Amino acid sequence: MRQDRAPRRGPAALIAALALALAGAGGCANPATSPVTEAPPTRPLAIPALEEGTGAGGTRAFDLVVDEGTHDFGRGTTATMGVNAGYLGPTLRMRTGQDVRMDVTNRLDERTTLHWHGMAVPARMDGGPHQLVAPGATWSPTWQVRNPAGTLWYHAHPHGDTAEHVYRGVAGMIIVEDQAAPAGLPDEYGVDDIPVIVQDKRFDDDGQLVFDQPGPSSTGFLGDTVMVNGTVGPYLDVRATRTRLRLLNASTARVYRLALADGRAFDLVGTDGGLLPAPVRLTAIQLSPGERADIVVTMAPGERVMLRNTSPEFGGRVGPNSRFGTGDYDVLELRAAQQLRPAPPLPTTLATWQRLPASAATTTRDFTIHAQIINRKPVDMGRIDEVVPAGATEVWVLRNRDPQPHNFHVHAVQFQVLDVDGAPPPPELAGWKDTVYLAPGSEVRIIATFPPDGDPTWPFMYHCHLLWHEDSGLMGQFVVVEPGQTVVPPPDPYDH
Ligand code: C2O
Ligand code: CU
Repeated sequence: MRQDRAPRRGPAALIAALALALAGAGGCANPATSPVTEAPPTRPLAIPALEEGTGAGGTRAFDLVVDEGTHDFGRGTTATMGVNAGYLGPTLRMRTGQDVRMDVTNRLDERTTLHWHGMAVPARMDGGPHQLVAPGATWSPTWQVRNPAGTLWYHAHPHGDTAEHVYRGVAGMIIVEDQAAPAGLPDEYGVDDIPVIVQDKRFDDDGQLVFDQPGPSSTGFLGDTVMVNGTVGPYLDVRATRTRLRLLNASTARVYRLALADGRAFDLVGTDGGLLPAPVRLTAIQLSPGERADIVVTMAPGERVMLRNTSPEFGGRVGPNSRFGTGDYDVLELRAAQQLRPAPPLPTTLATWQRLPASAATTTRDFTIHAQIINRKPVDMGRIDEVVPAGATEVWVLRNRDPQPHNFHVHAVQFQVLDVDGAPPPPELAGWKDTVYLAPGSEVRIIATFPPDGDPTWPFMYHCHLLWHEDSGLMGQFVVVEPGQTVVPPPDPYDH
């Protein structure tokens, strides 16, 4: 099934290879995978099924079966992985305050996990690399939804195989609804509230997915075919004057800068972790892997407008990485019907929350990425890197000292960006975030309040969300502890 799986390499070999590659000037040659071949918009956009769980009143239970499957990408039958589906998984919709249980069954012949990216969950429910689900087993984490209204996602997270499992399809969207959110935002799923999961892939002559691990100084896998929700060359039939697009970059390494081809502005209403205080008019939004943007597009009857990638701005001095995925190409065509349902004006207030000043923090921690590892250490599943007091507010200083782009994702929290290279964040970085882009040479300061409950055993992760970097060790672990709790490092589940 997965005949093109790359040989597994141990961390030591990887680090040696990294050191070699970084010592040699100019980085390494990479397959020419950055150009994207456009597909004309000839297929209706697939909309993942909506799941709201079962069980009235008490706990809502979601049944999630991870399995191998097949999918039609327009190249015959392609072997894939998915969750309750041949490729990708259902959109899970839940409400703030609800108790939920996820019954995650692994029908693959290898271990995997599902991680709830962006959710505030107890550490042992996180579905990170410590919560491996063995083949044939079911894992049933539970929690109470504490996030406000927002667009989150779930994806596989088995250490060393995250990139491959996500690439093959083990990912889906989570929509959190919240009574505190204002009326007036489009919220009819699949009608005017549309998941837009953007990914890139490559296919061999038999229409099978190619997944190769690139050279050590690379950003990771880049495909030549861009798709939305698994649809190559998609169009969306727009039925209302305002359509909400929940943009999710679920690619392994590619960065997108999405804009409407006719230059029209859209309203940004939410970032990774929830709604902005008020809509912000933008003409483009950049998303690195793992980031989300909730945007509202306004259209007149009969119009067609293309959502397009327009060369991302990587910033800094991008080293030997011209292959990082530039170029302009179509992503999703929006086709408005001749009759559109009129939508009310957007609410002027979307959410009320305060910006956290740096002075609210009790601790500052430094995270410097160099040679594709954090603070000189590749991840060690048996080592706790940071111990954070429960409920603490902290500033984390994120530095990218590599000549190539990274980003930084923190589990368990939504953070705010204090500044980017000393400047206040632009509007698209001024909301709640859990993943932030780090240009080569840049320094980004973030501030977060950590969970109120401690767990001295189970760590949360922080890592680059370029999945090959994450898999090869650009990751660290923190535990959140209450006073009096003694840190007990977990057993390394990968040690055998
Ligand atoms: Cu979206 Cu640790 O990941
Ligand atoms: Cu990275």
